[in-house]
Amino acid sequence: MSLEKIPLAGVIGSPIAHSKSPQLHTHWLRTYGLPGAYIPMDVSADDLADVIRTLPKMGFVGVNITVPHKERIMELADLVTDRAILIGAANTLIFRKDGKVHADNTDGYGFIQNLKQYSPAWDPKSGPAAVLGAGGAARAVIAALLDAGVPEILLSNRTRVRADALKQEFGKRLQVFDWVQAGNMLEDAALVVNTTSLGMLGKPQLRVPLDGLNKRAIVTDLVYAPLKTRLLIEAEEAGCTTVDGLGMLLHQAVPAFERWFGVRPEVDSATRAAALR
Ligand code: ATR
Repeated sequence: MSLEKIPLAGVIGSPIAHSKSPQLHTHWLRTYGLPGAYIPMDVSADDLADVIRTLPKMGFVGVNITVPHKERIMELADLVTDRAILIGAANTLIFRKDGKVHADNTDGYGFIQNLKQYSPAWDPKSGPAAVLGAGGAARAVIAALLDAGVPEILLSNRTRVRADALKQEFGKRLQVFDWVQAGNMLEDAALVVNTTSLGMLGKPQLRVPLDGLNKRAIVTDLVYAPLKTRLLIEAEEAGCTTVDGLGMLLHQAVPAFERWFGVRPEVDSATRAAALR
């Protein structure tokens, strides 16, 4: 096959060295024997628009977008999916053959698929979900949970005004708790989600008392480095089912890979191992 026929994709952010997406997409390209390459690109905010205009001319079929460009990229797209508009950010671009740039956000999809895969007994309608954190990741998680049929979101964030802003947006299905009382919302929760960066390598630990945690609750953390955060370890000790955050990263990549390379990839133990390499 000639070089110009090879579809190219990649991830744009700054910094970008930590991204696991190149290992992941390269693993799938090899697994399915597909021509293609996936390249990490460190791009500044000043260069972002030029780069997005240029990539399709170089054979790129799309890119993932990561920190700090996930919000700004929305202005540069010709078409934006409803779920990306709702979240206010995009993580995936598709460069269409008609020249249009299509922006999507698959983070919420990845979050739900991860729960379905690793905690198949989870029924969204079984009870409220307690969400810790009110940043960009929380927005994607809350929108996806409400869309999946979760009856109520119990939300707590260190900076109360950010949680109140989400309450304004999502309305009466969302109830805000003070950060110092975050432990109180766990009693009623069927699902507990940490969307803060606390517990990540090099960051302070999340310190929420789990005494009131319902033993039937499922506890999940968006942090995946380390895989077993203190929250997950303590939740397991309390008898809860836990789901780590790596699967969300893997599942959010599935729709993009399928659109770019034409095969819907599996998320399995080999995929996890590849992303951790
Ligand atoms: P992301 O897009 O990953 O959600 P973000 O918008 O910067 O990133 O949000 C990070 C989340 O982690 C926020 O909920 C943040 O709380 P604040 O809104 O109070 O900043 C939370 N977070 C980060 N460091 C924290 C800390 N030391 N204690 C409590 N919460 C913290």
